[in-house]
Amino acid sequence: MRPLLVLCALVLGRAPAVASPPSFPHAAVASDHPLASAAGVEALRRGGNAIDAACATALAVGVLHPQSAGIGGGGFLVAWIAREKRFVVLDFREKAPRAVGRDFYLRGGKADPRLAQVGPLAVGVPGEVAGLSRAVKELGKLDFARCTEAAARLAEGFPAHAPLLRAIEGVKGELPKYPALGGILMPQGKPLAEGQIVRRPELARTLRVLGKDPQSFYRGAIAKEIVRSLREAGGVLTEEDLASYTVKVRAPLETRYRGRRIATMPPPSSGGIVLTEALNLLEHERVGALGAGSEAFMHLYAEVLKHGFADRARHLGDADFVSVPVARLASPAYADELWRRVGPKPIAHERYGSGQGGAPPRDGGTTHLSVVDAEGNAVALTSTVNLYFGSLVIAGSTGILLNDQMDDFSLQPGVPNAFGLVGNAQNAVAPGKRPLSSMSPTIVLENDRVRLVVGAAGGPRIITATLQTLLGVLDFGLALDVAVAAPRLHAQWMPPVVFVEKEVPQAVRTGLAARGHEVVEAPPGAVVNAVAVEPGGARTAASDPRKNGAPAGY
Ligand code: GLY
Repeated sequence: MRPLLVLCALVLGRAPAVASPPSFPHAAVASDHPLASAAGVEALRRGGNAIDAACATALAVGVLHPQSAGIGGGGFLVAWIAREKRFVVLDFREKAPRAVGRDFYLRGGKADPRLAQVGPLAVGVPGEVAGLSRAVKELGKLDFARCTEAAARLAEGFPAHAPLLRAIEGVKGELPKYPALGGILMPQGKPLAEGQIVRRPELARTLRVLGKDPQSFYRGAIAKEIVRSLREAGGVLTEEDLASYTVKVRAPLETRYRGRRIATMPPPSSGGIVLTEALNLLEHERVGALGAGSEAFMHLYAEVLKHGFADRARHLGDADFVSVPVARLASPAYADELWRRVGPKPIAHERYGSGQGGAPPRDGGTTHLSVVDAEGNAVALTSTVNLYFGSLVIAGSTGILLNDQMDDFSLQPGVPNAFGLVGNAQNAVAPGKRPLSSMSPTIVLENDRVRLVVGAAGGPRIITATLQTLLGVLDFGLALDVAVAAPRLHAQWMPPVVFVEKEVPQAVRTGLAARGHEVVEAPPGAVVNAVAVEPGGARTAASDPRKNGAPAGY
């Protein structure tokens, strides 16, 4: 669908007459890079299922978009196993090393967010390899070595691309302090040029070793080298931290929306709860009648989000460590209560208006991919190193770029993190705890069959972009690519503004301002990848034009 047609359709508030998202009869993979989507299809053609394809794609994205993901990070996977009619949810989020505690990132009594954003102290214990290898072992059909092949091949050389170059611009001032990463991103002291081949032979070797023995990330030579190199740089992560890492199998967070079953991510993600609260609220309104992209819709949308984000800040944290009222927050009865506070004007709140933080940064160091295979199995997988290129630290001779997930903790109550998100003791740092995330891998079923697989990158904008895409398809009947490309609005309670992309029409902005919203134009900040199953069974797939991704299938 061409952008002009998309815009016309959205301004008019109805689906365009002709839509043409890529469509595949059997299976589809949507990710942030065409070569990563192709890696997923390669796994399918070798006899793999959606889980194998998702893992091969995730590993490939981690090489092609080192700013967004990689084996030095972690993530969440929501899968639908068609034959058994059950969801499987894996949490392979990073956890805090044992040496860090509540006051670890305070200096002179004040939080020093930089310590949690760059350098060795920012690194959480990575879960990516444990999560992906476990998914393949327990739910896949291939062995893990097969799933690492494409990524290892790509690590030997791939052409630099525009989103990578944009991300380099964002960190290049820091790179002289991180020469191992600097040597990759700025060879001969100059940022990579488009098409220049990026070679990471050490990472290729590590991926091949991990293919045969994923446990060596956590015990053995690779683990030792990660710890040695971090120690040398002043870090605190130990071999015991790595050896004790465990993947958590979670129950999906489920709700119903307009008769469909929606499964998404429970804590330590906030994404599922905020999404579920918003959907439960939106059930009270005939959203489809408001018109996609209309001012009335955008107002309602901003209002329902504020409640979820406010609850995020007050209540959410790692439910293995603190008590989180998941059942209450996700209940339709709670939404009934909140609905009384949703009206034609923005809600007044004593804390609403105190203003903290700025616009969250671009898509952040995160990626999302969606897969549906020929049997109807589906995977929504979101993976992250947190901010662009994570901590900027490469673990010695392993070639592994390590995350900076510690910034997703609330370092001090009320102090915003890099995404402008505030929190309290619920999300305070503690040894072994997982920091709160916004990642929202989501699967929608209709009559026990997959209808939509969706998720996003972009810090807190993950939640709003996932929700807006889901509503685009389910309420407004938009073609998938139109729903993904649609101009977005983001509201996260604090700061007390609504962020709009520049394509949001002036009339909509004026209408929102007249109601009392402070409207701020912000650059695109979220990136969606989604697969839908159409009534005839075709798999349509859409990758967000904001990051030049592309789906693949057969
Ligand atoms: N690091 C981004 C997130 O987990 O939400």
